[in-house]
Amino acid sequence: QEDNFKNVISHAKEYGFIFPSSEIYDGLSAVYDYAQNGAELKKNIREYWWKSMVQMHENIVGIDAAIFMHPTTWKASGHVDAFNDPLIDNKDSKKRYRADVLIEDYAEKLNQKAQKEIDKARERFGDAFDEAQYVTTNPRVMEYKAKQREILERMARSLGNEDLADVKALIEELEIACPESGSRNWTEVRQFNLMFGTKLGASADSAMDLYLRPETAQGIFVNFLNVQKSGRMKIPFGIAQTGKAFRNEIVARQFIFRMREFEQMEMQFFVKPGEEMKWYDYWKETRLKWHLSLGLGRENYRFHDHEKLAHYANAAADIEFNFPFGFKELEGIHSRTDFDLKAHEQFSGKKLQYFDTEENKNYVPYVVETSVGLDRMFLAVFANSLTEETLEDGSTRTVLRLPSVLAPTKAAILPLVKKDGLPEISRKIVEELKWDFNVAYDEKDAVGRRYRRQDALGTPFCITVDHQTIEDETVTIRHRDSMQQDRVKISELRDIIANDVSM
Ligand code: GAP
Repeated sequence: QEDNFKNVISHAKEYGFIFPSSEIYDGLSAVYDYAQNGAELKKNIREYWWKSMVQMHENIVGIDAAIFMHPTTWKASGHVDAFNDPLIDNKDSKKRYRADVLIEDYAEKLNQKAQKEIDKARERFGDAFDEAQYVTTNPRVMEYKAKQREILERMARSLGNEDLADVKALIEELEIACPESGSRNWTEVRQFNLMFGTKLGASADSAMDLYLRPETAQGIFVNFLNVQKSGRMKIPFGIAQTGKAFRNEIVARQFIFRMREFEQMEMQFFVKPGEEMKWYDYWKETRLKWHLSLGLGRENYRFHDHEKLAHYANAAADIEFNFPFGFKELEGIHSRTDFDLKAHEQFSGKKLQYFDTEENKNYVPYVVETSVGLDRMFLAVFANSLTEETLEDGSTRTVLRLPSVLAPTKAAILPLVKKDGLPEISRKIVEELKWDFNVAYDEKDAVGRRYRRQDALGTPFCITVDHQTIEDETVTIRHRDSMQQDRVKISELRDIIANDVSM
């Protein structure tokens, strides 16, 4: 798994998808730049989301609110008071940790121990091995699993307390249980606010303290009535938005999975109070279907229903994806009640109510939210698509089996040789296709190597112009996944590509 993840990161760099930020200055921790192919892939994911949410839903509209917002927004939303992570410092190593991550790491160690037992048993019993039965009957595995559960439950309880002394006690207890993991010289656990602060205005006394938004959602809430009125929207309706969000994560890690600057794709769906659970279920299903439509495999997704709820929610679930480092949150679906709109009413003194003409009354709508990280979507799609294949002749090839609709380049046009007029014909094909698709031209190296390069970039089609093209205006079109080659007319190319790459 670890090797696989390393491959993902190095492939992303080598083929121009993701670079470490400001690399010539040795980079900046957990900040990344999307490169020429990465920016295309990211844009295509964003568009795929936007089309399915906004274009395909008559009652959902999209906005693009500013990153800077009036500072009272974050008072009202609860972020100033409650958007914290528990932080602990190790006095010996001078390293800083998120207390919950530290505890989760211990729990994960137990999980790995259980997994080792399972793997050993599988080897011993071979085909006859029944994992489900083994996990529920083997005393050692059961003990590891029970202990892991207990730790996580105790952590959830301790984190809920105002006083975080229990969290520290749990960490110390776990260190005694795992003597190999080093020192026990910790500071108290304290809350650390995740918002980035900045200043608006030049002179020191007139400057205003601002935050960089930690979620895009609040830009939707404060515009709720503006959009509803100007768009004559009728409940139920949704407002969608994509954009940057910022969180000063204590532990930013796992490549683009957890970053300090990232992009969200969020939609707030405003409903009649009392109907929120119906819509919550609807959006859970609908969002899972959206993910499945990309064809990355049903087995790679699962729901995680939250027992412990955020201050604003009455129901919440994650769609988890099987990342190279295991199942982790990809998207959140939250039933946020009327918490946000009511809080903004209170802090702004402005009414944020909807007049329901059917019921002939005013009310503050309830909200069901869907929120997915664009960078996490990128990682899910990219890591899942990267495959190493052994061919019939024993050689290997690296293929990025991206869903065609998301591929950065849809087709590469390749003259078989760099002479006899073949480059000119190829250029003409590029000129025709580029109105509809992002296409590439490549004449460098032997054609076999050019195919391999396009495979690694995830390009669904290679179009090769050869000497027969001069005679009959046909070319070969090679399919990335099957490597099958068909001879087709140049005039047919547009439809063949469109058929495969459109939504
Ligand atoms: N408006 C609700 C909200 O922001 P969240 O669960 O905190 O909810 C939603 O975030 C999604 O944003 C997550 O499911 C994840 O995909 C993405 N996300 C959150 N923090 C992130 C980070 N530090 N780096 C990358 N993506 C992140």
